[in-house]
Amino acid sequence: MPAIFKKIILQELVDFYKKKIKKISTTPDLDLQILVCKALNISKERYYLQRNQNLNQWKIFKIKRLIGKRLKNIPIAYILGKKEFFGLDFRVNPDVLIPRPDSELLVEKALSLVEKEKFEPSKSLIVDVGTGSGCLIISIAKNLAEKKINFLALDYSKKALKIVRKNLIFHKLENKIKLNRSNLLNKIEKRNCFKASQTIIITANLPYIDPDAYLKLSLEVKKEPKAALIAKNKGLFLIKKIINQIILLIQNYKNKNFFVFLEIDFSQKNRLKELLKFHSKYLKFRFHKDLTQKTRVVEIWSK
Ligand SMILES: C[S@@+](CC[C@H](N)C(=O)[O-])C[C@H]1O[C@@H](n2cnc3c(N)ncnc32)[C@H](O)[C@@H]1O
Repeated sequence: MPAIFKKIILQELVDFYKKKIKKISTTPDLDLQILVCKALNISKERYYLQRNQNLNQWKIFKIKRLIGKRLKNIPIAYILGKKEFFGLDFRVNPDVLIPRPDSELLVEKALSLVEKEKFEPSKSLIVDVGTGSGCLIISIAKNLAEKKINFLALDYSKKALKIVRKNLIFHKLENKIKLNRSNLLNKIEKRNCFKASQTIIITANLPYIDPDAYLKLSLEVKKEPKAALIAKNKGLFLIKKIINQIILLIQNYKNKNFFVFLEIDFSQKNRLKELLKFHSKYLKFRFHKDLTQKTRVVEIWSK
């Protein structure tokens, strides 16, 4: 009988590809389950119940097509076109960084600040710089839905802005969060929402990977946009630049309160400490650790 007419049961197909997927992924079983469910449009429960069922050629084709993508190191999130972050779904494609669970700390810190400080919402502005998929600011805005806070999302990448727009519409926040193309905080002072606000909260997960370290990253991470990952000066170019912009804002607007949350790599802590100590006349700062006890966020506020 020609191979094309040979019946294949799902379990056989999964076992066949498991060996191949193992070479590129640390979670081959989960990857296969997710890809088969997506290809056949079935639930996880049905995936386990149907493992002894015969597959027709069309179903085999659909499964092989998705597994083929994964074997080319394409991340699962790009294959599915979505990623969960802070309990919400976000559209993603290769134009934006895939949201990382590590970045949820930044959202938690910003939310607890708003909870603790009890700002006048209509005179408060939350700005997310390097917004990417919009996962940080959308998660923050969703959790502050009842407050009339102003929100602004900024990114330099035109392609990323297209994805944020889709996510804003998906989460019904297109009227709540303003979106602009901007190189870091350039021209922020000219915006009405900045002028009208007493309290400015800035969040940013900017690219912070050293170009040499990037070379050693997995092929899977290299499918993500380079401009979302790498920064010159051992990864600190953009973080230092935004800190300098913020210091100028603090100096120029003594009547406003500034609160800043920046995601960093733990290896950058001491160099940032030096820079921030130098400006201690204007600001205070502290570092926050993630669940693995690694420094992940630096919080800065105006004195
Ligand atoms: C590490 S990604 C973070 C994306 C998203 N905030 C997240 O946490 O998943 C960094 C983002 O910064 C943007 N970016 C890079 N350089 C920038 C610049 N000079 N000004 C504004 N955004 C920039 C990139 O386009 C990218 O979307």
